[in-house]
Amino acid sequence: EKGGYDHFMLKEIFEQPQTIYDCLRGRLDAVHGNIILSGMNQYAEQIMNAPRIIILACGTSWHAGLVAEYIIEELCRIPVEVEYASEFRYRNPVIHKGDVIIAISQSGETADTLVAIETAKEQGAIILGIVNVVGSSIARKSHAGAYTHAGPEIGVASTKAFTAQLAVLTMIALKIAHEKGSINNERFMHLCKELADIPEKVALVLTQAEAIKVLAEKYKDATDALYLGRGYNFPIALEGALKLKEISYIHAEGYPAAEMKHGPIALVTDTLPVVFVATKDSYHEKVVSNMQEIKARKGRVIAVITEGDTISPTLADDVIIMPPADEIVAPMLSTIPMQLLAYYIGVAKGYDVDKPRNLAKSVTVE
Ligand code: F6R
Repeated sequence: EKGGYDHFMLKEIFEQPQTIYDCLRGRLDAVHGNIILSGMNQYAEQIMNAPRIIILACGTSWHAGLVAEYIIEELCRIPVEVEYASEFRYRNPVIHKGDVIIAISQSGETADTLVAIETAKEQGAIILGIVNVVGSSIARKSHAGAYTHAGPEIGVASTKAFTAQLAVLTMIALKIAHEKGSINNERFMHLCKELADIPEKVALVLTQAEAIKVLAEKYKDATDALYLGRGYNFPIALEGALKLKEISYIHAEGYPAAEMKHGPIALVTDTLPVVFVATKDSYHEKVVSNMQEIKARKGRVIAVITEGDTISPTLADDVIIMPPADEIVAPMLSTIPMQLLAYYIGVAKGYDVDKPRNLAKSVTVE
């Protein structure tokens, strides 16, 4: 049932071209510029006119929410807040009638997320569920929603569910933006095409698995690691660090690259691996200058960059190359090497990557 792979985690990482394709299929028509999300139709008007969107989730799903914040604000010009469901539910949050809450959950059973939406619902919010497990509690409690259609995720660490969440959230943002007119038609058509091309590009990224395995051997004995990114890739740095912690038990932290100067840079020595998510986007030059700051302190830089980009060999010890993609969809690509690096390091260290210690697949207790 692992389909020839050593672990479910690896199988699920490699399924992503198909799972993202399945998620987009029948919904995104990039040729005619049409996005159909039938589970949202009834609330389409309210969602489009929402004064504010609040995204609630935990863990990896919360990282998908952070990416969505950047995308929705950029394309739809609607203010977005992203909050840990566990914090939201206990802090008497301000909710106005008409606010739209997007709950993101692979399992659909995470206790904190479930209670958070129940609370918000009582106060008049519209709940939109982005859920993988069909018929799960969060799906049933939501007014409207879109399933991620990633298929069952067995590995405890979330991989394919995360990229499917990003695909759905990007479709939602594009649909709202198009209907509101907050982006022009040319940009809309371009982004639809970019999104439709993602499954193929993920397959290209996966061809680097062997090279990432070699990097895993090189860095597996590190005691700590830092993951840095900016903009759309900042949440991917957080996700990279979370994956490494879960699977390889190496202490890792993710930061927005510019925050590093405000503290974490004190950790940098010639034994610290620093993973930079530095694909070509509007933040790129800034990220490269952060990379220089790390290299000046002799950190070991692993840079995820875009094909055709030239990073001085003196800046990065190792590079992982991504196919070019619009910055809005790029996180679905740059997250793949994060997953593979964590996986191969965990395997190299002899850990049970499908069932990391102390973790459960769905956290149904608060
Ligand atoms: C990390 C991971 C967890 C989950 C979190 C939320 O790899 O799997 O952080 O993302 O427990 O779970 P769901 O999405 O089921 O609500």
